[in-house]
Amino acid sequence: MTLHTAARTCLAILLLILPVCRHTAFVRGDADFLDVRTSLNRDRSGKGGDPKDKYFHESTFHPHYDGRFAAAQIGKEERLPHLTALMQTFLATMADIGAETWIMHGSLLGWWWNQKILPWDSDIDVQVSETTIAFLAKYYNMTEYHFRLPGVENGRTYLMEVNPHYTIRGVEDKLNVIDARWIDTETGLFIDISTVRANYTARAEGVQGALMCKDKHKYLEQDIFPLRDSFFEGIHVKIPFEYATLLEEEYGKKALTLTTFEQHKFNHTSKLWEPILTSVPPRRKRPNRPFRKPPTFNPS
Ligand SMILES: *[C@@H]1O[C@H](CO)[C@@H](O)[C@H](O)[C@H]1NC(C)=O
Ligand SMILES: *[C@@H]1O[C@H](CO)[C@@H](O)[C@H](O)[C@H]1NC(C)=O
Ligand SMILES: *[C@@H]1O[C@H](CO)[C@@H](O)[C@H](O)[C@H]1NC(C)=O
Repeated sequence: MTLHTAARTCLAILLLILPVCRHTAFVRGDADFLDVRTSLNRDRSGKGGDPKDKYFHESTFHPHYDGRFAAAQIGKEERLPHLTALMQTFLATMADIGAETWIMHGSLLGWWWNQKILPWDSDIDVQVSETTIAFLAKYYNMTEYHFRLPGVENGRTYLMEVNPHYTIRGVEDKLNVIDARWIDTETGLFIDISTVRANYTARAEGVQGALMCKDKHKYLEQDIFPLRDSFFEGIHVKIPFEYATLLEEEYGKKALTLTTFEQHKFNHTSKLWEPILTSVPPRRKRPNRPFRKPPTFNPS
């Protein structure tokens, strides 16, 4: 058994999910609706309303869905398991092909608490280096991965799509801050993949290890590297080295300690964010009036 197969088998056992096939989709043009569509007969990509130079389009019904694959949002209860599978399949695939990636933003905050996606989050954020994005663009653009997932009858197919604008390094390319996406072709949910690049201007000014993102986030190399190994949603994941500092800078110190957030309370025993069930205020009882009109039946 080669190391590669061993790693793959390990992951598959660990995950109970199994990538069954992988092939390059023969897609031409700019991955237009008609090239990639699965079941829909109308494009809801939002492409029509977007500027010409914007590569990825968010759906007409919600910014965290790809309208080429879905016509509507999925239910709130269904969303979390779909996002979890999205994350697991992404991490497993990246490990499998040897593409280095790490989680950031809301996903890193979820990791901080219980190594899970925050249940109120509707997106997942990961980052890659310039080397990785070039590698994905060259060898894996528009590849599809079919996963068998527990409890999902026909499995699910995920698509890796790389933005051709990834070669433009600066923030002036405002329309294309997302360099790649990992897309669930069943629901249209996706992971945003953004690249962290060296900021040569800052380095020339003496800021050692200055890094930048097209979404305007700035880091230092020592904030992120060397990456740490951990788990997220049960899968191996990489974490930026100074995770606590990065989280504090982005969300404030309190985000790391406050256990009540977004209608959820963190349960230290179950290690889960549990929804705060706000009880519906009881209906005010009508006072009993001695000569009340008899109730009339109103069919509307
Ligand atoms: C990825 O493939 C799509 C569809 O063919 C294409 O539009 C896009 O430019 C490609 N991205 C890169 C980085 O080559
Ligand atoms: C790169 O560094 C320069 C100089 O510090 C700064 O002005 C610029 O905003 C940085 N670029 C990005 C994209 O962060
Ligand atoms: C927290 O989780 C534990 C274990 O699942 C459970 O027994 C307990 O009732 C939970 N606490 C609250 C306040 O819901």
